[in-house]
Amino acid sequence: MKLIDGKEASNAIRDKIKEEVAGLIDAGKRAPHLAAILVGEDPASQTYVANKEKSCQKVGITSTLYRLPAETTQDELLGVIDFINQDDEIDGVIVQLPLPDHIDKDTVIQAIHPSKDVDGFHPENVGKMVSGLPTYLPATPFGILMLLEHYKIETSGKSCAVLGRSNIVGTPMSLLLSRKADPGNCTVTTVHSRSQNIEQITAEADIVVAAFGQPHYLKADMVKDGAVVIDVGIHRVPSDKTKSGFRLIGDVDFDEVSKKASWITPVPGGVGPMTITGLLMNTMKAYRKEVYS
Ligand SMILES: NC(=O)c1ccc[n+]([C@@H]2O[C@H](COP(=O)([O-])OP(=O)(O)OC[C@H]3O[C@@H](n4cnc5c(N)ncnc54)[C@H](OP(=O)(O)O)[C@@H]3O)[C@@H](O)[C@H]2O)c1
Repeated sequence: MKLIDGKEASNAIRDKIKEEVAGLIDAGKRAPHLAAILVGEDPASQTYVANKEKSCQKVGITSTLYRLPAETTQDELLGVIDFINQDDEIDGVIVQLPLPDHIDKDTVIQAIHPSKDVDGFHPENVGKMVSGLPTYLPATPFGILMLLEHYKIETSGKSCAVLGRSNIVGTPMSLLLSRKADPGNCTVTTVHSRSQNIEQITAEADIVVAAFGQPHYLKADMVKDGAVVIDVGIHRVPSDKTKSGFRLIGDVDFDEVSKKASWITPVPGGVGPMTITGLLMNTMKAYRKEVYS
């Protein structure tokens, strides 16, 4: 078994971003700028946003956090987005999900100007992705493609089971892996809660991407010898072995499955860091006006 080390891959990519940003500053230009909006005080969301801010700072990307109270109305949030849309010195904006129940997520996503939608969730950018046009790919599937590329893992002609069909992970991952591209050219089966014979589908797959959001769902008897296993899940579970009192586990039973896999991502340190790297890459694309001139 070989480990797909998301930290190593993401450090290599982030070093290049850092170098590019330093070059811009040396040339007297402004740094790329990412804005993040956080509504409410969900602890997991606060951690995710803090990690994104820290990662921006480390590569020299300016980050601004708009922290709004949980009772912010939808109109107030749309007002903040409009303000950011019009600020020429902000290249990209992300709205941390989930939003409070009284705010409609789709209305908010569609209010972001597509040129600043570095999460790649706006329907215009999703449409571009489906059409194979240059766009901002959603950060997690983008990060996974970069991992496969970094470790030169062959995908062409392989059978792939993508577990999950969410708009942010499973559906774009299925689409991207089936594209005529490298990485890509897989024969993909998208698996969801109405799928039959899931164990059979995963056991026949050369590549399994696990994004069900079910702790330790994928067991060794569900994968074939030599499979490539990508674990997207993140779950905080109690632990008496750590100082914090918890540890992170994924959708894959790593200890068991790693004995059969040819390549596997750990949790933490696999897909997680690459998701943030995907966001940084999209922010650079927005700054360079690569998608929208
Ligand atoms: N590492 C990262 O950076 C990163 C980024 C994003 C998400 N995540 C993690 O990845 C996981 C998935 O996230 P998500 O947002 O895609 O989740 P989600 O929106 O909850 O979607 C889960 C998908 O899995 C399917 N599913 C769940 N349990 C199933 C089961 N037992 N059998 C069959 N299908 C099942 C659901 O099917 P239906 O559609 O039929 O309901 C749904 O399509 C979570 O643990 C999340 O925390 C990690």
